[in-house]
Amino acid sequence: MKQIEVKGLTKSYTNGSVTYDILRGIDFDVESGEFISICGPSGSGKTTLLYTLSGLESHQGGQILWLGKEISSMTDQERARMRAHDMGFVFQFYNLVPNLTVYENVMLASVIGKQKSKDEIMACLDLVGLKNHHDYYPAQLSGGMQQRVSIARAIINDPKVLFADEPIGNLDHHQGILIMELFKMLNIKLHTTILMVTHNEDVTRYGSRVIHMQDGKVVKDERNS
Ligand SMILES: Nc1ncnc2c1ncn2[C@@H]1O[C@H](COP(=O)(O)OP(=O)(O)O)[C@@H](O)[C@H]1O
Ligand SMILES: [Mg+2]
Repeated sequence: MKQIEVKGLTKSYTNGSVTYDILRGIDFDVESGEFISICGPSGSGKTTLLYTLSGLESHQGGQILWLGKEISSMTDQERARMRAHDMGFVFQFYNLVPNLTVYENVMLASVIGKQKSKDEIMACLDLVGLKNHHDYYPAQLSGGMQQRVSIARAIINDPKVLFADEPIGNLDHHQGILIMELFKMLNIKLHTTILMVTHNEDVTRYGSRVIHMQDGKVVKDERNS
């Protein structure tokens, strides 16, 4: 099943009289259950692509179809619901609420999403290996553990698609590998579709497919064997 279809996608920013073309005609489809790494040099448009695919930013040209429906034709309310119920987001800097515990950070996402029970939230923390840390505060945890909290928060509403932007960019090698293993497990066990931006070529092997970007275009799209 096609989860996302991207056709001739363009996006530009205008600053005064100058227009910068950031995405310059992008085409690809995402099948449900794929684990895609998006890789390319800094400034090539990777983050902008993730933000437009998730409807966080608007696009100018082309189409983005989410399960066959153009996202720019959705109402603000439909887009907000799609993000809360069908999408999860993981960022380089975990963006946790510092004065809430691990459990509360995940619960907060559930409140605006699918209203999970305490047991379900604990099961989710167990899945990312943090059950015993549920009452810790973010500052008491290592970077890798904080990223696990943000992954639990991203998956608590059983999203169809998990978007991750440089999720291991701030971690050492060992912690980065553990996070990649976690993504792989979620992809296999929960069948969550994953779109992960990275500029670390080494970790693209965790995915089933690698999309290479350069200057706002897809220059290579290859499947891992
Ligand atoms: N809000 C913005 N206004 C103007 N230019 C932007 C904006 N956001 C990103 N850009 C520019 O778009 C290009 C691509 O950025 P980005 O998508 O963040 O690339 P990447 O994630 O691959 O490093 C960069 O040249 C960046 O400076
Ligand atoms: Mg980026």
